[in-house]
Amino acid sequence: NNSEEQIHLKAFAWLTKLYHHLLRHTKEGKQAYQYLLDRGFTDEMIDLFQLGYAPQSRELVVQFLEKKGFHTQQMIRAGVLTANEQNQASDRFRGRVIFPIRNHLGKSIGFGGRTITDQEPKYLNSPESALFQKGRLLFNFDLARSTIRNSEQAVLFEGYMDVISAYQAGIKNGVATLGTSITENQAKLLNRYVNTVIICYDGDQAGIDASYKAARLLHQVDCNVKVASIPEGLDPDSYIVKYGENRFQNEIIEVSNTYMTFLMEYLKKDYNLQLEGDRMQYIEKVIDELATIKRPMEREYYAKELANTYDLSINTMMQEIKDRRKKLG
Ligand code: CTP
Ligand code: MN
Ligand code: MN
Ligand code: MN
Ligand code: MN
Repeated sequence: NNSEEQIHLKAFAWLTKLYHHLLRHTKEGKQAYQYLLDRGFTDEMIDLFQLGYAPQSRELVVQFLEKKGFHTQQMIRAGVLTANEQNQASDRFRGRVIFPIRNHLGKSIGFGGRTITDQEPKYLNSPESALFQKGRLLFNFDLARSTIRNSEQAVLFEGYMDVISAYQAGIKNGVATLGTSITENQAKLLNRYVNTVIICYDGDQAGIDASYKAARLLHQVDCNVKVASIPEGLDPDSYIVKYGENRFQNEIIEVSNTYMTFLMEYLKKDYNLQLEGDRMQYIEKVIDELATIKRPMEREYYAKELANTYDLSINTMMQEIKDRRKKLG
């Protein structure tokens, strides 16, 4: 319902202001504000991204919304507030740092709340609703859009912190999914604006596996894909904090791998290339992937690389690729 959505939008707008005000200008928000400063965020970024703090009190936010004329039961249905077993309304995010999640028009439609005291879960997010659909949204797309369009490039991160850290470091075309794998909808959305997407996920096994999934999906929808590699144990945000923005730009973003180079490396993990049988299977698998590449020049380039590495003739390689392309149709 349209008017219901308008009401939700207004509620999220008011709450974004309240949480941000509490963080910036009150004693209660001081610890959360200090937490963000300690992590290296500037006031400019805190204000630009309207980062906030949700108060410990269960009722403050409930009463705030009531005073602004919102019906508490409706706020519960909209996922703005939560209810306990006695159906008492309360703030979902108590005690957490708030990351407003904006839609592509720049309006707050949900929140991510990070603990500042090692509580589980680390992040709490607003529930899905008609207004807030995680699979259709990219965090920061509204701010990044013009840079993405002009540079024809986007950088895809895992987390809010990575996007904001990168933005502060001058990389303004960063976006992130909201704690889920990238969907076809999000991939297509990006492809409408970019030529190249640089995937820049965390330097752990989960991040590498997620890079593989995202790379395949983006490749399928015709994006030129690159994959950056963050050292083990770091993520883009902690890399920038540790090594600075120049090294992040020059040693991570600039030297990110092409789709095929990443894939050829990644696919090795399932095989023991010392064994002849495994080696054959690996080569077959890579040829399957080569067959999905649209540009002939690119196909040939990587076919040559593979042929050289495994001492095969380029003619055989190109014939294999041709056969597979026929089957793909
Ligand atoms: N996430 C989530 N729920 C969790 C953990 C993570 O929704 N319990 C989502 C968040 O959107 C988060 C992203 O997954 O931004 C990446 O997770 P992670 O790498 O663990 O967090 P960071 O962004 O690195 O956050 P921090 O640096 O504060 O640890
Ligand atoms: Mn402000
Ligand atoms: Mn991670
Ligand atoms: Mn991370
Ligand atoms: Mn992090």
